[in-house]
Amino acid sequence: MSEPLKVAVAGVGTIGVGVVRLLQEQADLLERRCGRGVRIVAVADPDRRDRGIPVDSFEWYDDALAMVAEADADVVVELIGGSEGVAKQLCESAIAAGRHVVTANKALIAHHGTDLARAAEAAGVALAYEAAVAGGIPVIKSLREGLAANAWTRVYGILNGTCNYILTVMRERGREFADVLAEAQELGYAEADPTFDVDGIDSAHKLAILASVAFGCQVDFPAVHIEGIRHVSLMDIRFADKLGYRIKLLGIAARTGQGIEQRVHPCMVHHGAAIASVEGVFNAVVADGDFVDTIMQEGRGAGERPTASAVVADIIDIARGHRVPAFIVPADRLERIDTVPMADHRGAYYFRLMVVDRPGVFADIAGALRDHDVSMEQVLQQGRDPGEPVPVVMTTHETRESDMAAALHEIEALDAVVEAPRMIRIEPF
Ligand SMILES: NC(=O)c1ccc[n+]([C@@H]2O[C@H](COP(=O)([O-])OP(=O)(O)OC[C@H]3O[C@@H](n4cnc5c(N)ncnc54)[C@H](OP(=O)(O)O)[C@@H]3O)[C@@H](O)[C@H]2O)c1
Repeated sequence: MSEPLKVAVAGVGTIGVGVVRLLQEQADLLERRCGRGVRIVAVADPDRRDRGIPVDSFEWYDDALAMVAEADADVVVELIGGSEGVAKQLCESAIAAGRHVVTANKALIAHHGTDLARAAEAAGVALAYEAAVAGGIPVIKSLREGLAANAWTRVYGILNGTCNYILTVMRERGREFADVLAEAQELGYAEADPTFDVDGIDSAHKLAILASVAFGCQVDFPAVHIEGIRHVSLMDIRFADKLGYRIKLLGIAARTGQGIEQRVHPCMVHHGAAIASVEGVFNAVVADGDFVDTIMQEGRGAGERPTASAVVADIIDIARGHRVPAFIVPADRLERIDTVPMADHRGAYYFRLMVVDRPGVFADIAGALRDHDVSMEQVLQQGRDPGEPVPVVMTTHETRESDMAAALHEIEALDAVVEAPRMIRIEPF
């Protein structure tokens, strides 16, 4: 039997504890599967409080960078978080010291993935980040390896469990966003500062990584168009239901004739689509390939145990000596592919207006749509209350985003329209 693989873990928070537990509880199973033991030699975290894990068999460092410099480790596992600062320094110094790096840090990979992959290749070590996208779902490995023979036209998914949970509870229990968010925070499903989740940034980090693996392009987080779910109202969820749709926060990366679209925003998806039935904290990733056709994977996208499962899968690859490029091709061969501006996106749209029902108002709305080449598909008006605003919902046939935006701008300026229009894109899955 070969020498055990020596692992150092930086950051003993939710995921760090999960990884230490898994490596300890499954030690025998891992040894059989890897043909060698996997042994934790050190952990680093400035807070040495008891976390319910036995810590006698390894060294504890307060300073993660000191651990990288001093501990005799083959692999450094970065579980601190954040795109800059200590997490980035730690990965850079581990690579420079010839140690393999495993991380769950999507922000870091979304911002610096290409550079880190380049450095890791130059140093002859692995950079592995399965847990950074969709937690327990092995989506990176499946796109990069099991499905590597396919060209992809589109990859999309529910990439943030907190948002999916909030949207699910809003719909099922008829509650508003702020109310469900507050409850999710109490239950520990949402962070005290929910910005990264509900404003779509976390999904965008993951989407930028997925796009790189699917299309062999450099990770380009700034290219992602990002909208979160704060403006999704119960009223829109109800109207979506009437029209046969569910509202989901999706990350979508698609190849078009002009380049790659990368976008995160609330979407209306037909309730019969497989992704529409992915509810609660679950994540799902769907990919449309030229040979395999459409493939969907669903599972837990976060949490101590599912995420530890993905982190340790990367450690197992290293223990087995299984090495592939971090992003499907070597870092120097990752292309720079043009981003399609959101203004050029083509699709169908839902929009809701709050309108005071006065003679001529519908003619004005129809005129604005006609002037910008937007063709209506359906109109729903609920209730009539002369003098009071009532919701008017419309869906369109496929149209260009810039035309839709110009029409809504004109409609918003009408006297009878009393609130900014709410617009949600309809995705044809
Ligand atoms: N939680 C999930 O479900 C999940 C899922 C997928 C990926 N991830 C990713 O996994 C990573 C870790 O997430 P987490 O949820 O485990 O976060 P966490 O619970 O906040 O754990 C991070 C740990 O790192 C420690 N830390 C802070 N600065 C440090 C330093 N300089 N040196 C060593 N340790 C330091 C923190 O200590 P203090 O608490 O004292 O600051 C904390 O114990 C992040 O990149 C996250 O995006 C998390």
